[in-house]
Amino acid sequence: MANVVVVGMQWGDEAKGKVVDYLAQEADYVVRYNGGNNAGHTVVVGDEVYKFHTVPVGVLNEGVTAVITDGVVLDPSVFTSELDGLKERGVTADRIKISGNAHVLMPYHRLLDQLEEANKGDGKIGTTGRGIGPCYADKMSRTGIRVWEFIDPERFRPRLSACIKQKNLLITKVYGGDPLDENQIYEEYAAYAAKMAPYVCDTTVILSDASRECANIVFEGAHGSLLDIDHGTYPFATSSHCVAGGATIGTGVGPTMIDRVIGVTKAYTTRVGEGPCPTELADKTGEYIRERGNEYGTTTGRPRRCGWFDSLAVKYSVRANGVSSIAVTLLDVLTGLDPLQICVGYEIDGTIVREFPTDVAVLGRAVPVYEQVAGWSEDVSKMTTFSELPANAKHYLARIAELVEAPVCMLGVGRRRDQSIILDADMLRM
Ligand code: GDP
Ligand code: IMO
Ligand code: MG
Repeated sequence: MANVVVVGMQWGDEAKGKVVDYLAQEADYVVRYNGGNNAGHTVVVGDEVYKFHTVPVGVLNEGVTAVITDGVVLDPSVFTSELDGLKERGVTADRIKISGNAHVLMPYHRLLDQLEEANKGDGKIGTTGRGIGPCYADKMSRTGIRVWEFIDPERFRPRLSACIKQKNLLITKVYGGDPLDENQIYEEYAAYAAKMAPYVCDTTVILSDASRECANIVFEGAHGSLLDIDHGTYPFATSSHCVAGGATIGTGVGPTMIDRVIGVTKAYTTRVGEGPCPTELADKTGEYIRERGNEYGTTTGRPRRCGWFDSLAVKYSVRANGVSSIAVTLLDVLTGLDPLQICVGYEIDGTIVREFPTDVAVLGRAVPVYEQVAGWSEDVSKMTTFSELPANAKHYLARIAELVEAPVCMLGVGRRRDQSIILDADMLRM
């Protein structure tokens, strides 16, 4: 048996969905432990494209129980429509479990996210506008609504009433916005609650029993380590624990139950939203990567900022996550770029540094130091073994592994599930 955490090592969209889907083929449980519908995880099986925001991608596999745990903030309108969409496509969704301890994301969270961002002007974070920050803020202030209360009509109505009263003060008196209508929200959300209720349970018991029965569990990290609320590029971060440790905090599964951490990184760098990204390329190469990699947000459709591979950022994530092995994705996108550059250091205030700075102001002054390596022109997207890869692609990967101090277990050479090259099957065996 194995309990494996799959975690993003950059600023999100590293193709975690694809890696989790690959592992899910042998898994019994796939568990979402953090974030909300700010996540967008794409899985491509044959010609079918699935985009997941709240439901764990493992649901595509018949034998998998998909679990949404305590650390998640769940938008009932998004969850129920995602559920309907999956059912329409013939995906059996009755093996979904939702923790009663998860927090419910309400319309006032969404509205406040947008109002706060607009109010920040140039200091904005560039959030997805999905209400994530305000919902986690309520959780930490102990004023949030948990799923348990949400699905209990007797408790939901008075809790909603108290929340709306307080939020309307904020919306109208601080931001000059229009107040929300409690009755309208109650009616809409009571219907979602009734739809969600059959899925709700104590997921800590399920996962603890699963571990005792030696089941295979994949923990599906959302976002990326550099967006982690503590370990990311704060304040240009999301509001949850994205690093592998979040898998224990967000589920109630103890750290001793985790066997392995697989870190996912693109063969280059992307970022959506504001905040420093030292290797970003605002030129033709950046555009080449964006177009070849289809680098537009899965959730918001925003163009992603693209740049060269930043080994300092990924090495930092290897450390912050205790990564056992890395999956390097979207290798095919670099085909045709020659030479390639790898960031091996930063020049900051006249000094060369080799460690990723955690103070965002310092990171903002970092000028990348590049090492030039040869590219390749061969189409790698149909290759199925490491030995088939062009010599320069092998060298590129070997150099990345050396710089970030972690071995490569898997490669992505295309969007589809079968466009994966396995280097270390043991690392991926459940
Ligand atoms: P996630 O949020 O980490 O799950 O990643 P996203 O799904 O948001 O973004 C990754 C994008 O890259 C999606 O459009 C995937 O379909 C696509 N993708 C994943 N792996 C590969 C790959 O190896 N090559 C290419 N070209 N695209 C890939
Ligand atoms: P997946 O799971 C990429 C970014 C936003 C913004 C910042 C804060 O698909 O990798 P938020 O709405 O969370 O308050 O926004 O975090 N962000 C992501 N970027 N992929 C994601 O998720 C992201 N989730 C949040 O763009 O910069
Ligand atoms: Mg994504």
